[in-house]
Amino acid sequence: MDKFIIKGGPRLKGSVDISGSKNAVLPIMAATLLASGPSTIRRVPGLADISHMSQLLGELGTSVSQGDSGMLRLEVTDESHSHARYDLVRKMRASVCVLGPLLAKRGIARVAMPGGCAIGSRPIDLHLRGLRALGAKIELESGDVIATADKLKGASIFLGGPFGSSVLGTANVMMAAVMAEGTTVIESAACEPEVADLAAHLNAMGARIRGAGTPRVTVEGVKELRGADHEVIPDRIEAGTFMIASALTNGEVKLSHCRLDDMLAVVDKLRDIGVIVERDDGGAVVASARRLEPTDVTTQPYPGFPTDLQAQLMTLLCLADGNSAITEKIFPDRFMHVAELSRMGANIRKEGPTAIVTGVKRLIGAPVMASDLRASAALVLAGLVARGETTVNRVYHIDRGYERIEEKLRALGADIERAPEE
Ligand code: UD1
Repeated sequence: MDKFIIKGGPRLKGSVDISGSKNAVLPIMAATLLASGPSTIRRVPGLADISHMSQLLGELGTSVSQGDSGMLRLEVTDESHSHARYDLVRKMRASVCVLGPLLAKRGIARVAMPGGCAIGSRPIDLHLRGLRALGAKIELESGDVIATADKLKGASIFLGGPFGSSVLGTANVMMAAVMAEGTTVIESAACEPEVADLAAHLNAMGARIRGAGTPRVTVEGVKELRGADHEVIPDRIEAGTFMIASALTNGEVKLSHCRLDDMLAVVDKLRDIGVIVERDDGGAVVASARRLEPTDVTTQPYPGFPTDLQAQLMTLLCLADGNSAITEKIFPDRFMHVAELSRMGANIRKEGPTAIVTGVKRLIGAPVMASDLRASAALVLAGLVARGETTVNRVYHIDRGYERIEEKLRALGADIERAPEE
Protein backbone atom coordinates (compact mmCIF):
# COMPACT_ATOMS: atom_id res chain seq x y z
CA MET A 1 0.00 0.00 0.00
CA ASP A 2 1.28 3.43 -0.92
CA LYS A 3 0.96 6.77 0.79
CA PHE A 4 1.36 10.35 -0.40
CA ILE A 5 3.67 12.77 1.35
CA ILE A 6 2.65 16.34 0.61
CA LYS A 7 4.33 19.57 1.64
CA GLY A 8 1.78 22.35 1.47
CA GLY A 9 2.34 25.79 0.07
CA PRO A 10 3.21 25.98 -3.62
CA ARG A 11 0.77 27.84 -5.87
CA LEU A 12 -0.31 25.58 -8.71
CA LYS A 13 0.42 26.99 -12.15
CA GLY A 14 0.36 25.54 -15.66
CA SER A 15 -1.80 23.15 -17.67
CA VAL A 16 -3.37 19.84 -16.87
CA ASP A 17 -4.99 17.43 -19.29
CA ILE A 18 -8.18 15.91 -17.90
CA SER A 19 -8.49 12.16 -18.44
CA GLY A 20 -11.45 10.27 -19.86
CA SER A 21 -14.31 9.78 -17.41
CA LYS A 22 -14.08 6.73 -15.14
CA ASN A 23 -17.83 6.66 -14.56
CA ALA A 24 -18.53 6.85 -18.29
CA VAL A 25 -16.04 4.21 -19.30
CA LEU A 26 -17.06 1.47 -16.83
CA PRO A 27 -20.62 0.97 -18.16
CA ILE A 28 -19.37 1.51 -21.73
CA MET A 29 -16.95 -1.39 -21.23
CA ALA A 30 -19.82 -3.50 -19.85
CA ALA A 31 -21.93 -2.59 -22.91
CA THR A 32 -19.47 -4.37 -25.18
CA LEU A 33 -20.89 -7.65 -23.78
CA LEU A 34 -23.88 -6.93 -26.04
CA ALA A 35 -21.89 -6.71 -29.27
CA SER A 36 -21.01 -9.20 -31.95
CA GLY A 37 -17.56 -8.12 -33.09
CA PRO A 38 -14.80 -5.97 -31.62
CA SER A 39 -15.21 -2.54 -30.00
CA THR A 40 -12.60 0.16 -29.52
CA ILE A 41 -12.80 2.62 -26.65
CA ARG A 42 -10.53 5.66 -26.63
CA ARG A 43 -9.23 7.94 -23.87
CA VAL A 44 -9.66 5.21 -21.27
CA PRO A 45 -7.94 6.37 -18.08
CA GLY A 46 -5.27 4.17 -16.48
CA LEU A 47 -7.06 3.37 -13.21
CA ALA A 48 -7.41 0.44 -10.85
CA ASP A 49 -11.18 0.37 -11.50
CA ILE A 50 -10.56 -0.07 -15.23
CA SER A 51 -8.24 -3.02 -14.52
CA HIS A 52 -10.95 -4.54 -12.30
CA MET A 53 -13.53 -4.16 -15.04
CA SER A 54 -11.12 -5.65 -17.62
CA GLN A 55 -10.55 -8.62 -15.31
CA LEU A 56 -14.28 -9.10 -14.77
CA LEU A 57 -15.04 -8.90 -18.51
CA GLY A 58 -12.18 -11.35 -19.08
CA GLU A 59 -13.88 -13.83 -16.74
CA LEU A 60 -17.11 -13.28 -18.67
CA GLY A 61 -15.44 -14.33 -21.93
CA THR A 62 -14.24 -11.01 -23.35
CA SER A 63 -10.75 -10.61 -24.74
CA VAL A 64 -9.42 -7.22 -23.65
CA SER A 65 -6.28 -5.71 -25.14
CA GLN A 66 -4.69 -2.37 -24.49
CA GLY A 67 -3.43 -0.15 -27.30
CA ASP A 68 -1.49 3.10 -27.16
CA SER A 69 -2.62 6.23 -25.30
CA GLY A 70 -5.64 4.86 -23.51
CA MET A 71 -7.10 2.70 -26.26
CA LEU A 72 -8.91 -0.50 -25.28
CA ARG A 73 -10.12 -3.19 -27.67
CA LEU A 74 -12.76 -5.57 -26.41
CA GLU A 75 -14.36 -8.56 -28.09
CA VAL A 76 -16.53 -11.30 -26.68
CA THR A 77 -15.10 -14.68 -27.61
CA ASP A 78 -16.94 -17.00 -25.22
CA GLU A 79 -20.47 -16.57 -23.87
CA SER A 80 -20.54 -19.57 -21.56
CA HIS A 81 -19.75 -17.83 -18.23
CA SER A 82 -22.22 -15.30 -16.86
CA HIS A 83 -21.15 -15.12 -13.22
CA ALA A 84 -19.65 -11.92 -11.78
CA ARG A 85 -18.03 -13.28 -8.61
CA TYR A 86 -18.14 -11.59 -5.22
CA ASP A 87 -14.35 -11.30 -5.18
CA LEU A 88 -14.46 -8.83 -8.03
CA VAL A 89 -17.76 -7.10 -7.28
CA ARG A 90 -16.57 -6.43 -3.74
CA LYS A 91 -13.55 -4.55 -5.11
CA MET A 92 -15.66 -2.39 -7.36
CA ARG A 93 -19.39 -1.73 -6.98
CA ALA A 94 -19.67 -0.63 -10.61
CA SER A 95 -19.28 -4.32 -11.54
CA VAL A 96 -23.03 -4.46 -11.07
CA CYS A 97 -23.47 -2.84 -14.49
CA VAL A 98 -22.76 -6.15 -16.23
CA LEU A 99 -26.18 -7.32 -15.01
CA GLY A 100 -28.24 -5.64 -17.77
CA PRO A 101 -26.07 -6.59 -20.77
CA LEU A 102 -25.52 -10.20 -19.63
CA LEU A 103 -29.25 -10.69 -19.16
CA ALA A 104 -30.07 -9.13 -22.53
CA LYS A 105 -27.48 -11.04 -24.54
CA ARG A 106 -27.20 -14.38 -22.74
CA GLY A 107 -30.59 -14.66 -21.04
CA ILE A 108 -28.88 -15.14 -17.68
CA ALA A 109 -26.79 -13.02 -15.36
CA ARG A 110 -25.44 -14.06 -11.99
CA VAL A 111 -23.93 -11.09 -10.16
CA ALA A 112 -22.82 -10.93 -6.55
CA MET A 113 -24.73 -8.34 -4.51
CA PRO A 114 -22.30 -5.45 -4.00
CA GLY A 115 -23.02 -4.97 -0.28
CA GLY A 116 -22.14 -1.81 1.64
CA CYS A 117 -19.16 0.44 1.23
CA ALA A 118 -17.47 3.30 3.03
CA ILE A 119 -20.03 5.83 1.86
CA GLY A 120 -22.99 3.90 3.25
CA SER A 121 -25.48 1.29 2.14
CA ARG A 122 -25.96 1.27 -1.59
CA PRO A 123 -28.94 -0.84 -2.62
CA ILE A 124 -29.69 -2.07 -6.16
CA ASP A 125 -33.48 -2.38 -5.80
CA LEU A 126 -34.08 0.10 -8.64
CA HIS A 127 -31.90 -1.91 -11.03
CA LEU A 128 -33.87 -5.05 -10.16
CA ARG A 129 -37.24 -3.31 -10.37
CA GLY A 130 -36.38 -2.15 -13.89
CA LEU A 131 -35.18 -5.56 -15.04
CA ARG A 132 -38.31 -7.24 -13.60
CA ALA A 133 -40.49 -4.79 -15.51
CA LEU A 134 -38.77 -5.98 -18.70
CA GLY A 135 -39.78 -9.55 -17.86
CA ALA A 136 -36.74 -10.88 -15.99
CA LYS A 137 -37.10 -13.37 -13.17
CA ILE A 138 -34.91 -12.35 -10.23
CA GLU A 139 -33.72 -14.72 -7.52
CA LEU A 140 -31.20 -14.44 -4.74
CA GLU A 141 -28.83 -17.34 -4.03
CA SER A 142 -25.73 -17.35 -1.82
CA GLY A 143 -25.49 -13.57 -1.96
CA ASP A 144 -25.77 -13.50 -5.76
CA VAL A 145 -28.57 -11.98 -7.81
CA ILE A 146 -29.61 -14.38 -10.55
CA ALA A 147 -31.57 -12.74 -13.33
CA THR A 148 -33.03 -14.88 -16.11
CA ALA A 149 -35.30 -14.24 -19.07
CA ASP A 150 -36.19 -16.16 -22.22
CA LYS A 151 -37.21 -12.95 -23.87
CA LEU A 152 -37.17 -9.40 -22.53
CA LYS A 153 -40.14 -7.22 -23.49
CA GLY A 154 -40.22 -3.42 -23.67
CA ALA A 155 -42.15 -1.69 -20.87
CA SER A 156 -42.77 1.68 -19.26
CA ILE A 157 -40.64 1.89 -16.13
CA PHE A 158 -40.47 4.48 -13.37
CA LEU A 159 -36.92 4.42 -12.00
CA GLY A 160 -37.07 7.10 -9.30
CA GLY A 161 -36.02 6.12 -5.77
CA PRO A 162 -35.96 7.81 -2.36
CA PHE A 163 -32.79 9.69 -3.33
CA GLY A 164 -33.82 10.46 -6.89
CA SER A 165 -32.59 8.71 -9.99
CA SER A 166 -29.92 6.00 -10.13
CA VAL A 167 -26.99 6.36 -12.53
CA LEU A 168 -25.99 2.70 -12.82
CA GLY A 169 -29.63 1.62 -12.43
CA THR A 170 -30.46 3.65 -15.54
CA ALA A 171 -27.42 2.21 -17.32
CA ASN A 172 -28.44 -1.36 -16.47
CA VAL A 173 -32.05 -0.98 -17.55
CA MET A 174 -31.05 0.86 -20.73
CA MET A 175 -28.56 -1.90 -21.61
CA ALA A 176 -31.16 -4.59 -20.95
CA ALA A 177 -33.79 -2.76 -23.03
CA VAL A 178 -31.69 -2.28 -26.18
CA MET A 179 -32.30 -5.89 -27.28
CA ALA A 180 -35.80 -6.30 -25.76
CA GLU A 181 -38.80 -6.78 -28.00
CA GLY A 182 -40.64 -3.48 -28.53
CA THR A 183 -40.29 -0.08 -26.90
CA THR A 184 -39.11 0.74 -23.39
CA VAL A 185 -39.69 4.11 -21.75
CA ILE A 186 -37.61 4.87 -18.64
CA GLU A 187 -39.10 7.67 -16.56
CA SER A 188 -37.02 9.43 -13.89
CA ALA A 189 -33.90 8.24 -15.66
CA ALA A 190 -30.58 9.62 -14.43
CA CYS A 191 -29.54 12.62 -16.56
CA GLU A 192 -25.79 12.42 -15.89
CA PRO A 193 -23.53 13.06 -18.92
CA GLU A 194 -22.10 9.56 -18.36
CA VAL A 195 -25.55 8.07 -19.11
CA ALA A 196 -25.72 10.10 -22.32
CA ASP A 197 -22.22 8.92 -23.25
CA LEU A 198 -23.23 5.29 -22.71
CA ALA A 199 -26.27 5.84 -24.95
CA ALA A 200 -24.04 7.39 -27.63
CA HIS A 201 -21.85 4.29 -27.55
CA LEU A 202 -24.88 1.95 -27.63
CA ASN A 203 -26.35 3.88 -30.58
CA ALA A 204 -23.03 3.58 -32.41
CA MET A 205 -23.38 -0.19 -31.80
CA GLY A 206 -26.77 -0.10 -33.55
CA ALA A 207 -29.12 0.56 -30.62
CA ARG A 208 -32.03 2.98 -30.93
CA ILE A 209 -32.08 5.18 -27.84
CA ARG A 210 -33.58 8.66 -27.63
CA GLY A 211 -33.63 11.14 -24.78
CA ALA A 212 -30.55 9.93 -22.87
CA GLY A 213 -29.38 12.80 -20.67
CA THR A 214 -33.02 13.73 -19.91
CA PRO A 215 -35.42 12.18 -17.36
CA ARG A 216 -37.30 10.27 -20.09
CA VAL A 217 -35.32 7.77 -22.16
CA THR A 218 -36.97 5.81 -24.96
CA VAL A 219 -35.40 2.62 -26.26
CA GLU A 220 -36.62 0.75 -29.33
CA GLY A 221 -35.36 -2.81 -29.16
CA VAL A 222 -33.16 -4.17 -31.96
CA LYS A 223 -32.21 -7.76 -32.77
CA GLU A 224 -28.46 -7.39 -32.89
CA LEU A 225 -25.65 -5.04 -31.93
CA ARG A 226 -22.21 -4.72 -33.48
CA GLY A 227 -18.93 -3.44 -32.07
CA ALA A 228 -18.26 0.30 -32.24
CA ASP A 229 -15.50 2.87 -31.87
CA HIS A 230 -16.05 5.39 -29.08
CA GLU A 231 -14.09 8.16 -27.38
CA VAL A 232 -15.21 8.73 -23.79
CA ILE A 233 -16.11 12.15 -22.43
CA PRO A 234 -13.70 13.97 -20.08
CA ASP A 235 -13.95 13.26 -16.36
CA ARG A 236 -15.94 16.14 -14.84
CA ILE A 237 -15.08 15.02 -11.32
CA GLU A 238 -11.35 15.04 -12.00
CA ALA A 239 -11.78 18.45 -13.66
CA GLY A 240 -13.65 19.77 -10.61
CA THR A 241 -10.94 18.44 -8.31
CA PHE A 242 -8.21 20.28 -10.24
CA MET A 243 -10.33 23.44 -10.28
CA ILE A 244 -10.54 23.27 -6.49
CA ALA A 245 -6.79 22.56 -6.26
CA SER A 246 -6.12 25.74 -8.25
CA ALA A 247 -8.55 27.78 -6.15
CA LEU A 248 -7.14 26.49 -2.85
CA THR A 249 -3.54 27.29 -3.66
CA ASN A 250 -4.37 30.68 -5.15
CA GLY A 251 -2.99 29.31 -8.39
CA GLU A 252 -3.79 29.63 -12.07
CA VAL A 253 -4.45 26.36 -13.83
CA LYS A 254 -5.55 25.70 -17.36
CA LEU A 255 -7.58 22.53 -17.89
CA SER A 256 -7.71 20.93 -21.31
CA HIS A 257 -10.25 18.26 -22.30
CA CYS A 258 -12.74 19.75 -19.87
CA ARG A 259 -16.41 20.22 -20.80
CA LEU A 260 -17.64 23.17 -18.77
CA ASP A 261 -21.17 22.61 -20.04
CA ASP A 262 -21.25 19.34 -18.06
CA MET A 263 -20.22 21.21 -14.90
CA LEU A 264 -22.44 24.27 -14.69
CA ALA A 265 -23.51 23.67 -11.06
CA VAL A 266 -19.86 23.28 -10.04
CA VAL A 267 -18.72 26.35 -11.94
CA ASP A 268 -21.60 28.37 -10.50
CA LYS A 269 -20.72 27.33 -6.93
CA LEU A 270 -17.02 28.05 -7.41
CA ARG A 271 -17.86 31.51 -8.74
CA ASP A 272 -20.08 32.13 -5.67
CA ILE A 273 -17.05 31.36 -3.54
CA GLY A 274 -14.99 33.88 -5.49
CA VAL A 275 -13.10 31.53 -7.80
CA ILE A 276 -12.53 32.78 -11.33
CA VAL A 277 -13.48 30.19 -13.95
CA GLU A 278 -13.19 31.15 -17.59
CA ARG A 279 -13.74 29.21 -20.78
CA ASP A 280 -10.61 28.64 -22.78
CA ASP A 281 -10.58 26.83 -26.11
CA GLY A 282 -12.05 23.41 -25.32
CA GLY A 283 -11.29 23.80 -21.63
CA ALA A 284 -11.09 26.29 -18.80
CA VAL A 285 -8.74 28.51 -16.84
CA VAL A 286 -9.24 28.62 -13.08
CA ALA A 287 -7.75 31.22 -10.79
CA SER A 288 -8.63 32.25 -7.29
CA ALA A 289 -9.61 35.43 -5.57
CA ARG A 290 -7.55 36.17 -2.44
CA ARG A 291 -10.65 35.91 -0.28
CA LEU A 292 -12.87 32.83 -0.45
CA GLU A 293 -16.54 33.51 0.36
CA PRO A 294 -18.57 30.96 2.33
CA THR A 295 -21.57 29.34 0.65
CA ASP A 296 -24.32 26.75 1.08
CA VAL A 297 -24.43 23.73 -1.16
CA THR A 298 -26.66 20.68 -1.49
CA THR A 299 -25.63 17.65 -3.51
CA GLN A 300 -28.22 16.50 -6.03
CA PRO A 301 -28.55 14.29 -9.07
CA TYR A 302 -27.28 15.92 -12.29
CA PRO A 303 -27.54 18.76 -13.23
CA GLY A 304 -27.22 19.62 -9.51
CA PHE A 305 -23.98 19.75 -7.58
CA PRO A 306 -22.40 16.24 -7.70
CA THR A 307 -21.92 14.19 -4.54
CA ASP A 308 -18.57 13.10 -6.01
CA LEU A 309 -17.23 16.64 -5.46
CA GLN A 310 -18.76 17.22 -2.04
CA ALA A 311 -15.66 16.23 -0.06
CA GLN A 312 -13.30 18.28 -2.24
CA LEU A 313 -15.54 21.36 -1.99
CA MET A 314 -15.56 20.92 1.78
CA THR A 315 -11.77 21.29 1.81
CA LEU A 316 -12.10 24.57 -0.07
CA LEU A 317 -14.81 25.86 2.28
CA CYS A 318 -12.61 25.02 5.28
CA LEU A 319 -10.60 28.09 4.25
CA ALA A 320 -13.49 30.40 3.35
CA ASP A 321 -14.13 33.53 5.35
CA GLY A 322 -17.24 32.48 7.37
CA ASN A 323 -19.77 29.67 7.82
CA SER A 324 -20.84 27.32 5.04
CA ALA A 325 -23.40 24.50 5.05
CA ILE A 326 -22.96 21.37 2.97
CA THR A 327 -25.98 19.07 2.74
CA GLU A 328 -25.55 15.59 1.29
CA LYS A 329 -28.78 14.50 -0.41
CA ILE A 330 -27.44 11.48 -2.33
CA PHE A 331 -25.39 9.55 0.23
CA PRO A 332 -26.32 11.04 3.65
CA ASP A 333 -23.44 9.19 5.39
CA ARG A 334 -20.75 10.35 2.99
CA PHE A 335 -18.79 12.37 5.55
CA MET A 336 -15.78 10.17 6.36
CA HIS A 337 -13.48 13.05 5.45
CA VAL A 338 -14.87 15.29 8.22
CA ALA A 339 -12.90 13.62 11.03
CA GLU A 340 -9.68 13.60 8.97
CA LEU A 341 -10.02 17.26 7.90
CA SER A 342 -10.63 18.09 11.58
CA ARG A 343 -7.27 16.47 12.38
CA MET A 344 -5.77 19.08 10.08
CA GLY A 345 -7.35 21.96 11.99
CA ALA A 346 -10.65 22.31 10.11
CA ASN A 347 -13.68 23.46 12.06
CA ILE A 348 -16.61 21.28 10.95
CA ARG A 349 -19.75 20.33 12.84
CA LYS A 350 -21.99 17.58 11.52
CA GLU A 351 -25.73 17.75 12.00
CA GLY A 352 -27.46 14.81 10.29
CA PRO A 353 -26.87 15.01 6.53
CA THR A 354 -25.44 18.54 6.87
CA ALA A 355 -21.93 19.69 7.73
CA ILE A 356 -21.48 23.22 8.99
CA VAL A 357 -18.01 24.39 8.02
CA THR A 358 -16.55 27.40 9.76
CA GLY A 359 -13.61 28.75 7.83
CA VAL A 360 -10.20 28.76 9.52
CA LYS A 361 -7.12 30.80 8.62
CA ARG A 362 -5.04 27.75 7.77
CA LEU A 363 -4.95 23.97 7.77
CA ILE A 364 -2.06 22.18 9.43
CA GLY A 365 -0.32 19.12 7.97
CA ALA A 366 -1.00 15.77 9.70
CA PRO A 367 -1.01 12.04 9.01
CA VAL A 368 -4.49 11.22 7.71
CA MET A 369 -6.26 8.14 6.40
CA ALA A 370 -8.06 7.90 3.07
CA SER A 371 -11.42 6.13 3.47
CA ASP A 372 -12.97 6.28 0.02
CA LEU A 373 -12.11 7.64 -3.36
CA ARG A 374 -13.42 11.19 -3.17
CA ALA A 375 -12.63 11.62 0.54
CA SER A 376 -9.02 10.79 -0.34
CA ALA A 377 -8.99 13.49 -2.97
CA ALA A 378 -10.25 15.98 -0.37
CA LEU A 379 -7.33 15.08 1.91
CA VAL A 380 -4.78 15.45 -0.88
CA LEU A 381 -6.25 18.88 -1.63
CA ALA A 382 -6.00 19.81 2.03
CA GLY A 383 -2.36 18.68 2.04
CA LEU A 384 -1.55 20.99 -0.89
CA VAL A 385 -2.41 24.04 1.16
CA ALA A 386 -1.73 22.93 4.74
CA ARG A 387 1.23 24.27 6.68
CA GLY A 388 3.93 21.60 6.95
CA GLU A 389 3.74 17.96 5.91
CA THR A 390 0.65 15.84 5.33
CA THR A 391 0.78 12.09 4.87
CA VAL A 392 -2.24 10.55 3.20
CA ASN A 393 -2.27 6.82 3.89
CA ARG A 394 -4.09 4.12 1.89
CA VAL A 395 -3.97 5.94 -1.43
CA TYR A 396 -5.16 2.83 -3.26
CA HIS A 397 -8.57 4.48 -2.93
CA ILE A 398 -7.40 7.41 -5.00
CA ASP A 399 -5.76 5.16 -7.60
CA ARG A 400 -9.22 3.74 -8.27
CA GLY A 401 -10.40 7.00 -9.74
CA TYR A 402 -7.62 9.51 -10.44
CA GLU A 403 -5.07 8.81 -13.16
CA ARG A 404 -1.52 9.64 -12.00
CA ILE A 405 -2.83 12.37 -9.70
CA GLU A 406 0.54 12.97 -8.02
CA GLU A 407 2.32 13.33 -11.38
CA LYS A 408 -0.31 15.75 -12.65
CA LEU A 409 -0.13 17.81 -9.44
CA ARG A 410 3.67 17.78 -9.47
CA ALA A 411 3.68 19.09 -13.05
CA LEU A 412 1.66 22.05 -11.75
CA GLY A 413 4.24 22.73 -9.04
CA ALA A 414 2.89 20.77 -6.07
CA ASP A 415 5.30 19.11 -3.65
CA ILE A 416 3.85 15.58 -3.51
CA GLU A 417 5.60 12.21 -3.45
CA ARG A 418 4.34 8.65 -3.49
CA ALA A 419 6.05 6.31 -1.03
CA PRO A 420 5.40 2.78 0.20
CA GLU A 421 3.46 2.68 3.48
CA GLU A 422 5.56 1.13 6.26
C1 UD1 B 1 -22.84 6.50 -9.54
C2 UD1 B 1 -21.38 6.84 -9.62
C3 UD1 B 1 -20.88 7.39 -8.29
C4 UD1 B 1 -21.76 8.55 -7.83
C5 UD1 B 1 -23.22 8.16 -7.85
C6 UD1 B 1 -24.16 9.32 -7.55
C7 UD1 B 1 -20.50 5.27 -11.26
C8 UD1 B 1 -19.62 4.13 -11.54
N1 UD1 B 1 -20.62 5.64 -9.97
O1 UD1 B 1 -22.99 5.44 -8.59
O2 UD1 B 1 -19.53 7.82 -8.45
O3 UD1 B 1 -21.40 8.94 -6.53
O4 UD1 B 1 -23.57 7.65 -9.15
O5 UD1 B 1 -23.97 10.34 -8.48
O6 UD1 B 1 -21.05 5.89 -12.16
N2 UD1 B 1 -30.22 3.98 -4.88
C9 UD1 B 1 -31.32 3.27 -4.45
N3 UD1 B 1 -31.62 2.10 -5.09
C10 UD1 B 1 -30.90 1.65 -6.17
C11 UD1 B 1 -29.81 2.40 -6.61
C12 UD1 B 1 -29.50 3.57 -5.94
O7 UD1 B 1 -32.00 3.64 -3.50
O8 UD1 B 1 -31.22 0.59 -6.72
C13 UD1 B 1 -29.87 5.24 -4.19
C14 UD1 B 1 -28.43 5.24 -3.67
O9 UD1 B 1 -28.34 4.65 -2.39
C15 UD1 B 1 -28.12 6.71 -3.65
C16 UD1 B 1 -28.87 7.23 -4.89
O10 UD1 B 1 -29.86 6.27 -5.16
O11 UD1 B 1 -28.68 7.32 -2.51
C17 UD1 B 1 -28.01 7.44 -6.11
O12 UD1 B 1 -27.22 6.29 -6.35
P1 UD1 B 1 -26.80 5.83 -7.81
O13 UD1 B 1 -27.04 6.94 -8.79
O14 UD1 B 1 -27.42 4.53 -8.12
O15 UD1 B 1 -25.24 5.60 -7.63
P2 UD1 B 1 -24.35 4.64 -8.51
O16 UD1 B 1 -24.96 4.54 -9.86
O17 UD1 B 1 -24.08 3.40 -7.75
